[in-house]
Amino acid sequence: MLVDTFGRTATDLRVSLTDRCNLRCGYCMPPEGLDWLPKPELLTDDEIVRLVTIGVRDLGVTEVRYTGGEPLLRRGLPGIVARTTALAPRPQVSLTTNGIGLARLAAPLAEAGLDRVNVSLDTLDRATFQRLANRDRLPDVLAGLRAAREAGLSPVKINAVLMRGINDHEAVPLLRFCLEHGYRLRFIEQMPLDAQHGWTRENMITADEMLDRLGTAFTLTPDEAHDRGSAPAETFLVDGGPATVGVIGSVTRPFCGACDRVRLTADGQVRNCLFATEESNLRDAMRAGASDAEIAGRWRAAVRTKRAGHGIDDPSFLQPARPMSAIGG
Ligand code: GTP
Ligand code: 5AD
Ligand code: SF4
Repeated sequence: MLVDTFGRTATDLRVSLTDRCNLRCGYCMPPEGLDWLPKPELLTDDEIVRLVTIGVRDLGVTEVRYTGGEPLLRRGLPGIVARTTALAPRPQVSLTTNGIGLARLAAPLAEAGLDRVNVSLDTLDRATFQRLANRDRLPDVLAGLRAAREAGLSPVKINAVLMRGINDHEAVPLLRFCLEHGYRLRFIEQMPLDAQHGWTRENMITADEMLDRLGTAFTLTPDEAHDRGSAPAETFLVDGGPATVGVIGSVTRPFCGACDRVRLTADGQVRNCLFATEESNLRDAMRAGASDAEIAGRWRAAVRTKRAGHGIDDPSFLQPARPMSAIGG
């Protein structure tokens, strides 16, 4: 098991498959992109599967989420998913994606055993999408969402980050859209994880503000029938249910105390938290010939030192050197 000194157990492994992306959302990447990791530094498909196997077989991982950058850009994704769903005990396998390419890949991924997808969608307006993501790709995202639903990847969850003065007037239309199409929407507080270090508390739309905006058009009541567990989203019934909406208040309502996550970066580093300041290099250990037992030992040691929380409110808080796209969303 992967246990830390505060007694939390990491069972949810989030694996970044690439640091590259075909969008440039302002809260993540500058328009010119970043210095991508050189190919030899990235884990190969076989190396990813070996590490995930050790996680699932030896370390108690029960959920595997593939992220990025944009994970659909990784050519071997369906094969990686198929090999993950073939593990025993079979983990839950999901994907967090911007949706571009899902129109083509949803069916093969479902075939490979993928259980579900979370798709980022911050706006329904094409011009706002272009402004926010620096690419004119809204139609591709919407086609990807439809394909995911048709392929039975359910529930399809939608992640929306609201930004002041850009898309924060879209909380109500986004929820209407999701109710109409059967997608499960979650609004996310923006975190200081952008490559440009441009995050400010003032520009972050808080969970309270999200709820206020939604409250102008819907009646929201806490969904008390379902235990939140370690989920980052607080869930509310919309107009009495059964439809729900989630609010992920990572900054103002942190859920670190119940965190069950551990991350593997695209270049094979274990991070015990999004905001960790240290990483443990499993790639080089593996390439130097470490056994599965040695890798598992390193991995346990890396999780043990996980801090109590992200510390965004501490005066000494330092944004991690790597942006979200390199850490894995
Ligand atoms: P499911 O609810 O199981 O589908 O997973 P999820 O909500 O964790 O998945 P997703 O990858 O869609 O992440 C949604 C958002 O949760 C991200 O955009 C982050 O804002 C937030 N998040 C994910 N992991 C962490 C984490 O380790 N710490 C914090 N503070 N926030 C996280
Ligand atoms: N703060 C909060 N969420 C973010 N995401 C990317 N960058 C940030 C950030 N700085 C979200 C994306 C995606 C998920 C993986 O993380 O919108 O849905
Ligand atoms: Fe790409 Fe995700 Fe960053 Fe947007 S938030 S630029 S989709 S990695």
